[in-house]
Amino acid sequence: MELDISFGDAVAASSGDVLIVPMFAEAAWGPGGDWVASQIAGLDAYLEAGDFTGKAGSTTTVPAGDGLPFTAVVVVGLGDEIDAEGLRQAAGSAARACRKFATAVTTLHLVDIEDAAEMVAFGSCAALYNFESFKSEAKPVAMEALVLAGAGGGGDEAVARALALVHGVGLARDLVNTPAGAKPPAMLAARAQDIGAERGLTVKVYDEDEILSEGFGGLVAVNSGAANPARMVVIDYAPTSATKTLVLVGKGIVFDSGGLSIKPAGGMETMKTDMAGAATVMGAIQAIADRGITLNVKAIMPFTENVISGHAMRPGDVFTARNGKTVEVLNTDAEGRLVLADGLSLAAEGDADLIVDVATLTGAAKVALGTDIAAVFGTDQAREMVVEAAKAAGEEMWPMPLYSGYRSHIDSTVADIKNTGERWGGAITAALFLKEFAGDGEWAHLDIAGPARSGKVSHYIPKGASGFGVRTLVALAEAMAAQ
Ligand code: BES
Ligand code: MN
Ligand code: ZN
Repeated sequence: MELDISFGDAVAASSGDVLIVPMFAEAAWGPGGDWVASQIAGLDAYLEAGDFTGKAGSTTTVPAGDGLPFTAVVVVGLGDEIDAEGLRQAAGSAARACRKFATAVTTLHLVDIEDAAEMVAFGSCAALYNFESFKSEAKPVAMEALVLAGAGGGGDEAVARALALVHGVGLARDLVNTPAGAKPPAMLAARAQDIGAERGLTVKVYDEDEILSEGFGGLVAVNSGAANPARMVVIDYAPTSATKTLVLVGKGIVFDSGGLSIKPAGGMETMKTDMAGAATVMGAIQAIADRGITLNVKAIMPFTENVISGHAMRPGDVFTARNGKTVEVLNTDAEGRLVLADGLSLAAEGDADLIVDVATLTGAAKVALGTDIAAVFGTDQAREMVVEAAKAAGEEMWPMPLYSGYRSHIDSTVADIKNTGERWGGAITAALFLKEFAGDGEWAHLDIAGPARSGKVSHYIPKGASGFGVRTLVALAEAMAAQ
């Protein structure tokens, strides 16, 4: 993702390894396209014969010939109508088509969209992400530089905004892609401290003794089977002159075996992803700080693995959460809500204007909305704010009901509440459980069990960790700062 992005001369005066030009539906050239077509004899006829007509996200690579100071030209389709997300995706598809070339030049940022350069920079960089820390032989992406040919699209500021976001998304992807064995809670806490130190943010790490003494009973319960001690990590970004406060809480289950209510082998394969909520929150606060958004933001991340030993919590055990409520654990695989109970309790102690938690919480959310869409629960206003921010950011999120009729499903006979209801409506009862710890103010809960990972490469999303949610949280922070 360390692509160097800069503005250069207009396309007719530029050179490089590959030139990316856009085409709208029905073979209507976008910015620079007519000029390119005038330099490559027979290009229009060739594309037409190949049925390349500018379908959104499609690409085709042609030799540049003798007329142009490039090796190849990549034509990328924009479809009938282009919007910000379409442009990010087109830039992503084009960048992937160009990954073997060192230097690329494009006119995509001249498409008529506000801050188009931001979308082009984001889509290109996010698409070129690759995770090679655990490969014995790395195959780095060849592309080093992308030149935006001609001024426009919002200029350097738009590019800087994109890069702040890309680095936040990249951080979230890296953390999720890292194998569970290589990211024990103490290591993730150290990473948070590094991120904070680089930016002058306050980072508080509760170690195992403080987790006990501070009453984080859910985190203690989930951690009880693990050899690696838990950590509660809190990052604070408090820019001068900020008046409002957003508190983010992320599920940080480094690995979810299910505990004694053990998962089948197949269900565990991707469970290093179960700290994606915390990774999203960490990526978001980093990007918010890097963008210098005028808003107080706190990121709360309870980290532990959910594994088995003679010390592990048992079905039927009861613990007391940070806010004093007692919880009966009937299914140790419903562990995310237990650590979030403590995280949300802590969040509710401050004077937050809005609390948002993010979690790979339930398979039921994945069943309901599939792998592309996150479920959004919460108070009416908070839920609407999050859905609006998601729309602005180009992420798929859908409002879900906090139906109080299901609240009785989590009534316990021995404690104040139990951690599982019946199978049906499992994403809703999970959200109803969290509500008990979120206080009386505005609160939203994002269940990202589906979109936290991608099973395939598409436009700017790689296979594996997607970094989903970072952009929505940053857009939300911007909206709150502008209020
Ligand atoms: N981490 C899982 C949820 C999950 C499942 C995320 C699949 C991504 C993909 C969570 O801790 C869990 O196990 N939830 C249970 C809850 C149940 C026991 C009430 C589930 O969804 O099955
Ligand atoms: Mn689980
Ligand atoms: Zn889990």
